[in-house]
Amino acid sequence: MEEKIKKNIKYEILPEDFKIFDLCFKIIIIGDSGVGKTCLTLQGTKNIFQDTNSTVGFEFSNFNLKINDKYINLSIWDTCGQEIYRSLISGFYRNCSLAMIVYSITDIKSFNNIDSWIKDLKIQSSPDVKIILIGNKCDLNDIRQVSKEKGEMFCKDNNFTMFFETSAKTGFNTKNLFIEAAKILYFEYLNVQEKKNNIINCINENKNNNIKGVNNNVKNHIPVVKKLKREVIQDDVIPNQCIC
Ligand code: GTP
Repeated sequence: MEEKIKKNIKYEILPEDFKIFDLCFKIIIIGDSGVGKTCLTLQGTKNIFQDTNSTVGFEFSNFNLKINDKYINLSIWDTCGQEIYRSLISGFYRNCSLAMIVYSITDIKSFNNIDSWIKDLKIQSSPDVKIILIGNKCDLNDIRQVSKEKGEMFCKDNNFTMFFETSAKTGFNTKNLFIEAAKILYFEYLNVQEKKNNIINCINENKNNNIKGVNNNVKNHIPVVKKLKREVIQDDVIPNQCIC
């Protein structure tokens, strides 16, 4: 995807009860209990910070926005981090396009546990699922146990898509987080569309050559079409993407 296209992107946040979409994506939020997943979701989607009880199962929210000409819905599954529900929530990972793994910058244990969340995620979701790593509670810098550099390094070493430090309390980076997630998924959609168009063009080109009687080119094109098809299937990492 050209950098120019990425830079010229226009977006607008839509109301939560907006109904008609071109694209829908499922996002799951996972991480240890108490790291602030529910507060982060509430602040990012509704601009509210409130103390909440520990989640049981999952809670569901929407974040809607228009990017360029596409109306996009993010359905956000805020899961519970308690160990006893771990096997239950792994069933929710299926068909997610993007996972947000959250730790608290004040709790090294929650950072060390990221590996086990990745392991669960990889078992249940597509291998190409996008991952955003989030160090929450960055308003509590005085009692920080995980440096920003450590979070950034972990993100890079594991090939995650993005890293953020956030504060659900002050609202720092919370909305930005969901906007960036939507952009990532939108660009992925464009990439897949581009590849599909390449296949169609290639097939049409072959057809035209056949009509003109220039058949000797066809053999050369077949491996290209096959390769493109393979790439699209492999890269079609937006399993629940729907065009409504
Ligand atoms: P589970 O539902 O048990 O998985 O927990 P959770 O990860 O959803 O955590 P939750 O959002 O319930 O927040 C846990 C506690 O952390 C609450 O007391 C929040 O008030 C507090 N908290 C969450 N985010 C922040 C933050 O950014 N800064 C500060 N200072 N406190 C936060």
